[in-house]
Amino acid sequence: MNVIRLANDRPSVKDDFPVFAANEGLVYLDSGATAQKPISVLDRMDHFYRYANATVHRGVYRLSADATDAFEAARKTVADFINAEAREIIFVRGATEGLNLLADCLGRSDLLKAGDAVIVSELEHHANIVPWQLLRDGRGIELRVCPISEEGGLDMAALEALLADGKVKLVSVTHIANATGTVVPVKEVSRLARAKGAMVAIDGCQAVSHRPVDVRDLDVDFYVFSAHKLYGPTGTGVLFGRYELLEKLPPYQGGGAMITTVTFEKTEFAPPPQRFEAGTPDIVGVLGLAAAIDYVNGLGWDWIAAHEAAVMAHGEAVLRAIPGVTILPAGPERASIFSILVEGIHPHDLGTILDNHDVAVRAGSHCAQPLLAKYNCYATVRASVGVYNEAADFDRLAAGIKSAQKLFGKGA
Ligand SMILES: Cc1ncc(COP(=O)(O)O)c(C=O)c1O
Repeated sequence: MNVIRLANDRPSVKDDFPVFAANEGLVYLDSGATAQKPISVLDRMDHFYRYANATVHRGVYRLSADATDAFEAARKTVADFINAEAREIIFVRGATEGLNLLADCLGRSDLLKAGDAVIVSELEHHANIVPWQLLRDGRGIELRVCPISEEGGLDMAALEALLADGKVKLVSVTHIANATGTVVPVKEVSRLARAKGAMVAIDGCQAVSHRPVDVRDLDVDFYVFSAHKLYGPTGTGVLFGRYELLEKLPPYQGGGAMITTVTFEKTEFAPPPQRFEAGTPDIVGVLGLAAAIDYVNGLGWDWIAAHEAAVMAHGEAVLRAIPGVTILPAGPERASIFSILVEGIHPHDLGTILDNHDVAVRAGSHCAQPLLAKYNCYATVRASVGVYNEAADFDRLAAGIKSAQKLFGKGA
């Protein structure tokens, strides 16, 4: 890892990410959409394709055996990262596929039957809404929506009330809301759900790159995330499931690698996780994900937490100091994301003007239309941070907003 020490002895990690050398002056505030990739991840992936390429789980020759060892070692790296067992880690294409797999397989298992209820929340990304709607419409599951509080956090009293009749078999909520940065108190959600015998699934997309996740400590049954938001490649993600529950789920897709025996009359399925990994996996993506986890572990959670907290505190101060800027509320705890509205300027116009200032933000609904509708808007500008952001990036964002206000004849 190529870490530069600054005068204040805080490491700047920007040099680990080639994108910044290739785009001088770029302020990248869209890590919530996808994070940039460090050299170590790119090297790991390049090395495999260049010098070690072979398929996994099938070949009898050395190169394939080595690829299988590396792939399964990566599974262990992922498992250790969230305090799970390797056999509880299912590799998928991303969080979206993880949540679809979960909804589809649960809906065909005895764990979720017609008439049972599933709770999601108003904070969700569409990926944690639509799969459950499909299940509702296809299999007669009741879908309940937990509202947010006035302050923008999850309304825990409402959650308890929604659980009260004992019909709820699963609570599926986000860990950190991608449109607002709201941190959900997952342990408390689990406690309430457990008290009523419900399972807990967590969409950890926005959490895994910002805080340590321990699925045992959080006491959750399922946890999903995408590699590309964790400094890894696109096309790879993870579904964690408690093994005793995974064992009760039918396969997702059929094909090679997920079976033990096949005849035309009958197929015996492999145990988890192979049961859910039909076909040749994204081998290099999984290796890239493991390299990304090694990279994050190398920085260390203490450094990441302190660095991002300082960057966010500065960001909040400069944004709140600009007249006409509103930050969507995030409840008692915010992480890594500001969703902002600037009076009199459409978010898409603002995003384009910021791009002219070399500041990359997301403008839109952030795949969270129900949440934005709650705030009577269709779009916001979202600034989200990664380990390479610095406090000065928010000064550049603020300068861009002020220049947009000038252009539109708004602001101070
Ligand atoms: C909270 C949350 N859930 C799910 C997703 C979907 O992730 P992917 O598109 O990588 O499958 C995202 C991505 O924006 C997200 O932020």
